[in-house]
Amino acid sequence: MTSLKPFTCADLFKFNKVNFDPLTETYGLSFYMTYMARWPDYFKKIENTKGEVVGYIMGKAEGMGENWHGHVTCLTVAEQYRRQGLAAKLMRNLEETSEHKRCYFVDLFVRVTNCKAIRMYESLGYIVYRTVLDYYSGDPDENAYDMRKALSRDVHRKSVIPLKHPVRPEEIE
Ligand SMILES: CC(C)(COP(=O)(O)OP(=O)(O)OC[C@H]1O[C@@H](n2cnc3c(N)ncnc32)[C@H](O)[C@@H]1OP(=O)(O)O)[C@@H](O)C(=O)NCCC(=O)NCCS
Repeated sequence: MTSLKPFTCADLFKFNKVNFDPLTETYGLSFYMTYMARWPDYFKKIENTKGEVVGYIMGKAEGMGENWHGHVTCLTVAEQYRRQGLAAKLMRNLEETSEHKRCYFVDLFVRVTNCKAIRMYESLGYIVYRTVLDYYSGDPDENAYDMRKALSRDVHRKSVIPLKHPVRPEEIE
């Protein structure tokens, strides 16, 4: 049994186990606090019956005009809780929030080698909109896919017409 709830400051002391995952970025405290304060509707957790955080999503709404969109900054589910539809539930919640805010689309960046996550996003209707070269710094740097899903406000689905050429990180709005 799990339930979806708002992520709170106290949860920052409970999410270590989820963040041990190598594909889950860990940021400084102020980064999480900023998201909680500015975009509380976009920061949700999945809790088990013991009150442990077993997954969460952190995102925001940003952009101007037809670029007004929901963005997934971080999504992760603890290994023992995967393939139970929890990531899909968190993504649906973020999409509903973005619909309420009249966003045109939802987007996210994912490592091109993160096949599981790419499959998951594709299963939810996301497409690769463009490739961003050397988006993830490391040794070596790694490219990202910028994946998108159009929302109901994008009637003509203009936001999900894939770009033909890759872009550099400095070219992203
Ligand atoms: C990617 C991740 C969030 C998926 O979480 P999850 O709760 O297991 O995903 P769901 O159970 O909601 O999966 C929904 C659908 O996505 C697809 N999917 C999910 N995991 C998959 C996998 N390992 N292989 C293939 N397809 C997968 C399936 O179609 C699945 O539906 P199904 O189980 O009915 O076949 C999880 O594996 C994770 O936390 N990974 C590490 C962190 C990460 O990579 N985050 C994304 C960074 S952008």
